[in-house]
Amino acid sequence: MAQTYISEIGRHVGEEVTLKGWLYNKRSSGKLGFLEVRDGSGMIQGVVSKKDVDDTTWASVEEVTQESSITLTGVPREHPKRPGVYEIDIKSLEIVQLTQDYPISPKEHGVEFLMDHRHLWLRSRRQHAILKVRHEIIRAVRDFFDNDGFVLCDTPVFTPAACEGTTTLFEVGYFDEKAYLTQSGQLYNEATAAAFGKAYCFGPTFRAEKSKTRRHLTEFWMVEPEVAYARLDDVMTLAEKFLSYVVGRVLETRRDELAQLERDVTKLEGIAPPFPRLQYDEAVRLLQEAHSKGLVENRFEWGGDLGSPDETYLSGLYDRPVMVHRYPAAIKAFYMEPDPERPDLALCVDVLAPEGYGEVIGGGERMSSHDLLLQRIQEHELPPEAFDWYLDLRKYGSVPHGGFGMGIERCVAWICGLEHVRETIPFPRMLYRLKP
Ligand code: 4AD
Ligand code: MG
Repeated sequence: MAQTYISEIGRHVGEEVTLKGWLYNKRSSGKLGFLEVRDGSGMIQGVVSKKDVDDTTWASVEEVTQESSITLTGVPREHPKRPGVYEIDIKSLEIVQLTQDYPISPKEHGVEFLMDHRHLWLRSRRQHAILKVRHEIIRAVRDFFDNDGFVLCDTPVFTPAACEGTTTLFEVGYFDEKAYLTQSGQLYNEATAAAFGKAYCFGPTFRAEKSKTRRHLTEFWMVEPEVAYARLDDVMTLAEKFLSYVVGRVLETRRDELAQLERDVTKLEGIAPPFPRLQYDEAVRLLQEAHSKGLVENRFEWGGDLGSPDETYLSGLYDRPVMVHRYPAAIKAFYMEPDPERPDLALCVDVLAPEGYGEVIGGGERMSSHDLLLQRIQEHELPPEAFDWYLDLRKYGSVPHGGFGMGIERCVAWICGLEHVRETIPFPRMLYRLKP
């Protein structure tokens, strides 16, 4: 018999169907069995009564263990008191493989244990919900740019040089040369934006920084749009439209998963443009004021980069993401366009998610002057020969342009309301985690 997926079960009420999946959980009381069955598309409670099935099926019901693979036939019906919830009356059950000693039991496990068993942990309800939200975020990201005239131009993972600075690069052997795993597609995006006007790339990026925080992965997925002729304000407008769209889509299609995660969706429902725009100088003033009132521990000094408690404080002032712009050029990357009115400031923006989820987007306007860019490359002690092609973009029809990068995992952590990014990607790579 053809397989029916649990996600489609509502269309088969009263018909006999075949489900193929795994046993999630079992309860039985004498002659009645309650089997929670999952098939990847969803979860359903199967009810089986000894008097209604043959002896082999009843023996399987008694024998079947958590995460055994099973196929069953039965007749679905709607739950009498919960519309939209289905149960299935099981007619026959076959064990495909009987699982012995499944390591993850319904009892509590420590995080390290679960991370070591990530390949199995993915089967649990909560992980399932998170990764379904992740998938929807990725779909929304692609739809947003695809529907807005952006051309997908993916950028290479092997690169000959640094984008954001060499200290955080993974070096790999590349035949007789050295190469680095990319930490951002941005420099290449600037070339594709000059070719296509609006371009984006979306792929894995790598950071070798030895940060062991709740927000850092060594491998993460970043989506990066880049727009020719865009100024900083345009970049901010794009970022607020984009993030609002992504949040809106998850609210539209993943309510059940957010409920499973006990996410307070009222915190997401108000996410809409315009987002507050806060100049760095003003952020410093707010932080110093907060410090004098004892609201943040360390006094923040102008010229520093925002630490996590600073970001948390600032984001707590608003009900939507806040866009902090015009940081001191000295703490930002070499390619940033200086503010013509205050050349010590970079025309850049960091978007901080609400509720203390930290920076989700970083971007800004890129330097368009050839000579100034060359000077910055030298000041940063980067090898100019590696950037000849990048400098070419400033020789042949240079224009103001800008864009940003959003880390998918940070976005998933925020939207799902997760403590740590380790649960936002199927197999996280972190400072002390390369397995499974
Ligand atoms: O702020 P970042 O470093 O910006 C860039 O790489 C720019 N070149 C992007 C651009 O303008 N095209 O990184 C962008 C975003 C951050 O805001 C954050 O969401 C995410 O990437 N990110 C990380 N996510 C997880 N783990 C890490 N170690 C991350 N580092 C950055
Ligand atoms: Mg950043």
